[in-house]
Amino acid sequence: MPALAWQYHEPDHPGANFDALAEIYDRNMQRFRDVQGEIEEVLDFLDLQPDQSVLEIGTGTGEFALAAARCCTRVYAVDLSPGMLRYAEKKAQMRGVANVEFLPGGFLTYRHEGAPLHAIVSQIALHHLPDFWKQIALLRMAEMLAEGGKLCLRDVVYSFDPAKHGEFLDEFISKAAEKAGPQFARSICEHVRNEYSTMDWIMRGMIERAGFKIEKATHSQGFFALYLCTKTTNSASAEGNSND
Ligand SMILES: C[S@@+](CC[C@H](N)C(=O)[O-])C[C@H]1O[C@@H](n2cnc3c(N)ncnc32)[C@H](O)[C@@H]1O
Repeated sequence: MPALAWQYHEPDHPGANFDALAEIYDRNMQRFRDVQGEIEEVLDFLDLQPDQSVLEIGTGTGEFALAAARCCTRVYAVDLSPGMLRYAEKKAQMRGVANVEFLPGGFLTYRHEGAPLHAIVSQIALHHLPDFWKQIALLRMAEMLAEGGKLCLRDVVYSFDPAKHGEFLDEFISKAAEKAGPQFARSICEHVRNEYSTMDWIMRGMIERAGFKIEKATHSQGFFALYLCTKTTNSASAEGNSND
């Protein structure tokens, strides 16, 4: 039997084949998201100092990593997809950014060598893991951070009323189709059908059990959330658990 035969195999995640999509993904994000606004929101909270280092997990096309590199000494930009990493690295070269290290790895496999980190950021990526493995990923992030270190987690997280999910999703998806076209609407259907986005109360519980204090949480359209957190302790995961 292979070692860790029970371990979730991250590359098997449902959803887009990011390897083949880097350029299209990058273009779509610039069209459909306020990418610069999101970056500023996260950087404001992190308040990075020139001697600090940041890890981004699920960096994708690297837009946040490249912006953060202007404010700190080193950014570790990790992703499972070699195609995304190649594309992001090319952007770094074109922009003359030399202090970002692009590294293959996932939430469950990346091992950070060296001093504890000041901050970890992950955006629109944690939903690729089922809930149990999200909890493990959050515990691993807490371990990699220095005491008082910061975590910024943005993702597709549901804060609508699940008892009214049909009405909510029909309306949300038809508005998305009007605003961004049928292909984008189809990608939202696919996300809801197959991917592991979870509810806000579950996400909060997992973040707190991993040893973080949520300083601020922002929800948008019942469908997206940003959690700005500070590491408090490594042992909160034990709280509230009991065994016979
Ligand atoms: C929707 S994209 C988000 C990219 C970028 N963070 C953004 O905000 O635009 C999700 C990214 O997460 C990566 N990913 C998926 N599962 C992952 C995992 N288990 N560990 C690390 N990265 C993962 C994908 O390869 C992809 O680049």
